[in-house]
Amino acid sequence: MVEEAKKLAAFAAIDDHLKNNMIIGVGSGSTIVYAVERLAEKIKNDGLIVTCVPTSFQARQLITKHGLIMSDLERNPQLDVAFDGADEVDEKLNLIKGGGGCLTQEKIVASAAKKLIIVADFNKRAIKLGERWKKGLPIEVIPMSYMLVKRKIETMFGGEATLRMAQAKAGPLVTDNSNFILDWKFPAIPKEEWKRINLEINNIAGVVETGLFIEMATQVYFGNQDGTITVV
Ligand code: MLT
Repeated sequence: MVEEAKKLAAFAAIDDHLKNNMIIGVGSGSTIVYAVERLAEKIKNDGLIVTCVPTSFQARQLITKHGLIMSDLERNPQLDVAFDGADEVDEKLNLIKGGGGCLTQEKIVASAAKKLIIVADFNKRAIKLGERWKKGLPIEVIPMSYMLVKRKIETMFGGEATLRMAQAKAGPLVTDNSNFILDWKFPAIPKEEWKRINLEINNIAGVVETGLFIEMATQVYFGNQDGTITVV
């Protein structure tokens, strides 16, 4: 059911936004796998030329697997559109991202794109951030700073920030940028406060980037349980 919803959303977003000669950002995570599947299908069937800029090692692998044109922000610093997933989307289309650990490159690539199109299943849709997503706000940090950043965030805003551990290796998860991730379980925060909090967290020495995407998403495609799609 959830996988079908992800696929529906991803296929519809690609069908609506992909055009010939585009330079696109390719996001990371579970839903983007379906978006790249559709992308490859359309490129092949419609004879399109599309250049892809990845947001992670996973995205690079997907682009390579499907034989698509790979580029980077050095050659293509301006993108037509970026496609990506999200862990949670609030009613203003603010996002929590980084469950997959690729938030920094995802944000860099999204910021280079004229449009950010998000694909997600119905579980990701919330009125306010933290309503559905219970794993906390991912924050990428320079390894030596993690304890300092953890303490500062907890002192400044409350809640608890936990070092994310690797799944199949002893010790912390290491990102594609060789950094660590703190998952901050935040207390109730009014939605108008997130912009300021994002700036304040980004100002802490050692923080590389947060998984808060404030006012960045252009449109979000939700796949629903009943097989329909909602575009917000
Ligand atoms: C993320 O933001 O970490 C992922 O893109 C969410 C997903 O799995 O789709």
